[in-house]
Amino acid sequence: MSNPNHFLTMLDYDQATVYDLLKDAQTMKKEVKEGIPHPHLKGKTLAMIFEKSSTRTRVSFEVGMLQLGGHALFLSSDDIQLGRGEPVSDTAKVLSGYVDGIMIRTFGHDRIEELSAHASIPVINGLTNEHHPCQVLADLMTIQEQKGKLEGLTAAYIGDGFNNMAHSLIQGLSLMGMHVQVASPEGYEPDSVIMEEAKDVADKHNGSLSFSYSPERAVQQADVIITDVWASMGNEAEQEQRLSDFKDFQVNEALTAHAKDDYIFLHCLPAHREEEVTAAIIDGPHSVVFEEAENRLHAQKAILKKLL
Ligand code: CP
Ligand code: NVA
Repeated sequence: MSNPNHFLTMLDYDQATVYDLLKDAQTMKKEVKEGIPHPHLKGKTLAMIFEKSSTRTRVSFEVGMLQLGGHALFLSSDDIQLGRGEPVSDTAKVLSGYVDGIMIRTFGHDRIEELSAHASIPVINGLTNEHHPCQVLADLMTIQEQKGKLEGLTAAYIGDGFNNMAHSLIQGLSLMGMHVQVASPEGYEPDSVIMEEAKDVADKHNGSLSFSYSPERAVQQADVIITDVWASMGNEAEQEQRLSDFKDFQVNEALTAHAKDDYIFLHCLPAHREEEVTAAIIDGPHSVVFEEAENRLHAQKAILKKLL
């Protein structure tokens, strides 16, 4: 369900719009480094609803609004009536009368779809169980910054295929014409509808999308290697089972030996060293995870500027 007035998934915009957002993000990043202010959203207010924990999303959106000359309100679901069962639809209508945009981190993607259907203001996805587009926009910005381009690069995603990062990466990397190679254990394959749709998107943009159960095959000749936690927020009860199911999917030196010599490593963070990735990789010379985290700020400002 694509809707250009919101930002719910990586397929809400076309490739040209994503390139525009990345360009704007780079401009604002440069301005911050040079001490040039950019108060494009003076007097605007963003409500930030969190039904799950966050470090990067919370801080980058709050600081981003400040840098744009606006204001952000942190609304933990423990403190607002939503957490006590007030309907999402009522919350959407009420907030639409007060603020200029809503960013929400929640559980099922249907919840954000309902919120956006009842809001008369833009809604931004700060992570659902199924999608994490703000992170992937920052990932694209980081890859472009490091490699000088996106189109034609090979990116491998190793790990949980049925989570927010996997789905948004599959969509976002395919949209930018990259060759996307996903590997997950049996039982953790990406959503089949998302895969089918993204395959068409990849074809249309001279990219490709493939899935295998072999991490070695997926990282062959990769320019970019990406992983994520084995148990996402909400999967905590399955932690032990997942440690065993994912044990052959760790990103380590033996695996990265199959990639290009100058590959870069991305992880949205938080990371669990010696689980999905070894310390040697995430703290090593190929890792760009802190550049990636910093880019959340600038990529999201580009989204805020566009939507608010
Ligand atoms: N990557 C990411 O979204 O981090 P937080 O959970 O800290 O917001
Ligand atoms: N897949 C992870 C991403 C955290 C930013 C989770 O949902 O917990």
